[in-house]
Parts: sequence; structure tokens; C-alpha cells
Amino acid sequence: MKIAILGTGSLARLYGTLFEADHPLMVGRQLGRYQLIERDNTVSWHVPRFQRWEDPAPGPWQVVLVAVKWPGMPLARQWLERWAQAGTYVVPFLNGMGQEQALIPPLTKSQLSPAITTDAAFRSDDSDHDIWRVSIKDHGTVHLTETGHANEITLKQQAASLNLAWQWHPVDYMLRLRWTKLIANSVINPLSALSGQPNGALLQLPLWRLAEPLCSEAESVAQSLGISVTGTLKWVADLAISTATNRSSMLQDVLSHQPSEIESITGYIVRQAHEAGIAVPTHQAILHLVRLL
Ligand SMILES: NC(=O)c1ccc[n+]([C@@H]2O[C@H](COP(=O)([O-])OP(=O)(O)OC[C@H]3O[C@@H](n4cnc5c(N)ncnc54)[C@H](OP(=O)(O)O)[C@@H]3O)[C@@H](O)[C@H]2O)c1
Repeated sequence: MKIAILGTGSLARLYGTLFEADHPLMVGRQLGRYQLIERDNTVSWHVPRFQRWEDPAPGPWQVVLVAVKWPGMPLARQWLERWAQAGTYVVPFLNGMGQEQALIPPLTKSQLSPAITTDAAFRSDDSDHDIWRVSIKDHGTVHLTETGHANEITLKQQAASLNLAWQWHPVDYMLRLRWTKLIANSVINPLSALSGQPNGALLQLPLWRLAEPLCSEAESVAQSLGISVTGTLKWVADLAISTATNRSSMLQDVLSHQPSEIESITGYIVRQAHEAGIAVPTHQAILHLVRLL
């Protein structure tokens, strides 16, 4: 399978390793030989086929995985504009929503398969010593959108041959799943970033009182788009408990002075609410506070 991975961070390294036999091209700003640390602390070294964003990559590409964070999306879009062909099947893994608006065009609907993953990977590079590292916290499931594209079959077959837990679902099912994940991210990420607390501690904070209006406001916005998502408050609370020791990606971004993904999580909900004429004061307040961070 001719595969490229856009991004060189945690998820890119995990998927670069899983598909190593296909010699994936990894595209980004920088990456060297990296260390992958498994949950049982076994360590393996990997030498990526790395290229910079601006380097020529004529392909042709059958599959492209997009594993950047949102601030890197304009570069991923430009790369796809230059190097994706009609036969390229593209899977973005970014948290939050807006993948379709960001990537169609240059892609068509049938080329784009937004995915969500419960894999958990964390990078801990030592830039002083030029050591690239990723630790795997969990091997979960990848849920992808069924589009019927010819190279969807190629990726399905390869994932099956590698025994990966990659599952394809119809568009409507995936929209419900993506909104449920969006709502969870819109509660756990900003509340942890604002409080500095890991997921499990959030439920004990006075700030957690915002979880109920955050969920109900977002459910109304989903409803206005014809997506029925209910009972998210309990689901989000259970998720915070089951990932109790995790620091959310937004908290990590804030701690490492990186731009957060708030605009594609809370910002997306606020923009959709505005278009539908729905009031989402709690999300608006959260958006404002995280922007100030
Ligand atoms: N890690 C997980 O377990 C996990 C699980 C589920 C979903 N996700 C989602 O998957 C996406 C990727 O996450 P990740 O954990 O792999 O992130 P990451 O380790 O921080 O890597 C992000 C990648 O995006 C690039 N990037 C970020 N900002 C950029 C910019 N302004 N210009 C160019 N490149 C930029 C980074 O380049 P540099 O390295 O050069 O900065 C890096 O290649 C995110 O949307 C995340 O929310 C991650």
C-alpha cells in the first residue's frame, strides 16, 4: 500500500510504526529515528522515511493519514492540494470538527473518511539530545467513515492483515459518534486546561457544574443539525473517571505553551450555534476563557 502520513507527532509515530511494512512517508517539520515505548515498557526503535512539507511528493498515494493538530491543518491542506490524486483516500484523525470544511475541496466527499480513535499516544521528545520518543498509553479502536472510495478497500485489507482494530461505519453513525466525542472534548479539555487538573479530578471541582449546561447546549446544536445525541453528561463523567490519571491534550498544550485546539472544539460548537440561532452562553464563556489562557 502506498501510504503517506501527514504529521510527525504522537499519533503519526504510532501509525507510522503500525504500517511500517509499507514504508510510509512521514511529512512534517522535523523527525529523526524515534523510540516507541509500549505499555509494558518494551522499547523499539524506528527509522522514518521523513520529508518536509515543502519537499516534492509525487506519489501516487493510495492512502494518506492526517495526524497533525489543527494549527498544522493549512499545511496538510496545501500538501493534499499538490500531491493527492482522485485515487487518494484520506483519513484525518484530528479531534474536534471541521474536517470537511477544511479539506473539501481540494478533496471530494468520497475521498475523505474522518476518523476518531481511542488509541492514546504521548510524545516526550528530548530536543536537547535529539531524541524522539512516543509512549503508548492505550491501544484502542479506530472508527472510520465509510465512503465507498476504491482505496477504502486497500486500507481495510491492510488493516485486517495487520489485525488492527479499525472499523468502518456509515456516515450517519459516524456523525453521531463524532458529535459525542466532540461534546466530551468540549467538557473535559477546557475544564482541565482551566483548572490544571487531570481528568478524574474534574468531577470534584465546582467548575464541573458547567458540565451539565455544556452538554445540554451542545446536544441542542447537534439536534439542530439533525444529529440525535443524548445522555452525554453521564457518558462524559464516565469517560473522565475511566481516564482519571490522564492530562487532556488541551491541558498538555497549555502547559507546553502550544496553541490549543479550542477553536475546532468549543469554537466549532459556538459557530454552528450562531448559524442555527441557538444560545450557547456556557460554551461562549469557556471559549473566551481558554483564548485568554
Ligand atoms: N495522541 C493521541 O493519543 C490522540 C488521540 C486521539 C486524537 N488525537 C488527535 O490527533 C491529532 C494529532 O494529535 P497528536 O497527539 O499526534 O499531536 P502531536 O503529538 O502534538 O503532533 C501534532 C503534529 O502536528 C504538527 N503541527 C502542530 N502545529 C503545527 C503548525 N502550526 N504547523 C505545522 N505543523 C504543526 C506537529 O508538528 P511539530 O512536531 O513540528 O510541532 C506534529 O507533527 C490531534 O487533533 C489530537 O487531538 C490524538
